[in-house]
Amino acid sequence: MKMPAPILVTGNLPASVLDTLKREFQVECHAEDRPMSRSKLLHSIRDKIGLLSMITDDIDGELLDYAPKLIMIANMAVGYNNIDLEAAAKRGILVSNTPGVLTEATADLAFSLILGTARRIAEGDRMVREGRFSFWAPFHFLGRDVSGKTLGIIGMGRIGKAVARRARGFQMPILYFSRNPLEKTEEEELNAHYVPLNNLLGESDFVSLHIPLSSVTRHFISEKEFSLMKTTAFLINTSRGPVVDEKALLEALQNRIIAGAGIDVYENEPAITPGLEKLDQVLLLPHVGSATLETRTRMAAMAAGNLLAGLRGEAPPNLINP
Ligand code: DGY
Repeated sequence: MKMPAPILVTGNLPASVLDTLKREFQVECHAEDRPMSRSKLLHSIRDKIGLLSMITDDIDGELLDYAPKLIMIANMAVGYNNIDLEAAAKRGILVSNTPGVLTEATADLAFSLILGTARRIAEGDRMVREGRFSFWAPFHFLGRDVSGKTLGIIGMGRIGKAVARRARGFQMPILYFSRNPLEKTEEEELNAHYVPLNNLLGESDFVSLHIPLSSVTRHFISEKEFSLMKTTAFLINTSRGPVVDEKALLEALQNRIIAGAGIDVYENEPAITPGLEKLDQVLLLPHVGSATLETRTRMAAMAAGNLLAGLRGEAPPNLINP
């Protein structure tokens, strides 16, 4: 009997998802709750025809040179900046992602950061836990209103639009800047107004980032952009860390150029720029935009579906590089 071909799964996925893969392939799964090390990845990829990867796997030309049999990479994320698409294309390797299924969870988190920074949620929690809640006073521990404030959305794709839908419930005027402006009808539905980037930065009370990371968007928000923002404004980042110049962010916060920030992703993840952790006006999360049980389960199933399709010779539904 012919042995099933081997594939590699670099994250700990639900058994039901692994079972669908095991029906057709011999699955090597890195069933640990930490990313696979580079050396283990290089070693394990050698004989594999398929790879179900995580955003923590750096898939570059070197790795692909170790994988002469590789046909398809299914990334379990909507972002795919961890994959060198050119190197994959050169070798004829298919690449897919998981769009759509994490839109609402990520938008929920972005909105939590808007509320959390404006109302100082994490700071208040720390205060109570540490026994520092010792009095109530009318002008003590004030935050800022969210309802009715202007939200600036940079990147009006699926997630940007989902954030805009939430903001409507808070009666927030919405400004947006995007590579592809929306159709008029969609702008009207969301009550969102397209404006040049500088206007958005200058007029928004919250600036929320929803653009993918690329060579064009690296450090999209840096010293100059911070200087254009209101001193009362908050920056929210649930996209990719390097979209923001983190050193410039630290300086903008330390020098009160902006009021605060809600950050889920970091320039050199999992490391953060030293000094950020000392600031109360920044709310720091460990890259959990899509981290709900329901969403991660859907992402895993979607990535597996893509991989199965590609390895069967069918068109993967979420192919990035047709
Ligand atoms: C994505 O899908 O790109 C997320 O950042 C992973 O959680």
